[in-house]
Amino acid sequence: MKTRNLPALLLLALALCLPWACASFLPAPQQSDLEHLPPQWKGWGLEDLEKGRRLYAGTCGRCHQLHPPGEYRADQWERITRRMQGRAKIDDQARESILAYLQTLAWNPAAAQKP
Ligand code: HEC
Repeated sequence: MKTRNLPALLLLALALCLPWACASFLPAPQQSDLEHLPPQWKGWGLEDLEKGRRLYAGTCGRCHQLHPPGEYRADQWERITRRMQGRAKIDDQARESILAYLQTLAWNPAAAQKP
């Protein structure tokens, strides 16, 4: 009787877990992240970065897993997004949007060294 529901329960657990896992994997930009906004993106706000995050999730995960923004430094993301732009078939505007998100949340050696 109870075991008949097991597959359904497992599916439900999976359905509940997956969006959570993705969301925690790709951090949403926070107010405090704006401190790390590179000068290049001066004037950009949380909404712009959130748009970049959505674009990133929607266009960059087709061929490989999404790399978390903290995996690379800001300068590395610049090179990577230029190389991946053609593959993802996105225009300059979309690339900049994605790059702004990635660079703002990028690995930051200076911040990491703060006590
Ligand atoms: C059409 C497939 C495809 C799409 C779409 C794609 N990538 Fe890639 N990506 C690859 C392949 C293949 C590699 C393996 C390394 C290589 O060949 O350059 C890779 C490697 C990477 C790496 C690993 C670091 C490195 O330098 O190799 C990162 C980070 C990355 N991609 C980010 C992105 C981002 C950001 C986007 C969206 C703008 C994106 N990818 C879209 C195919 C893709």
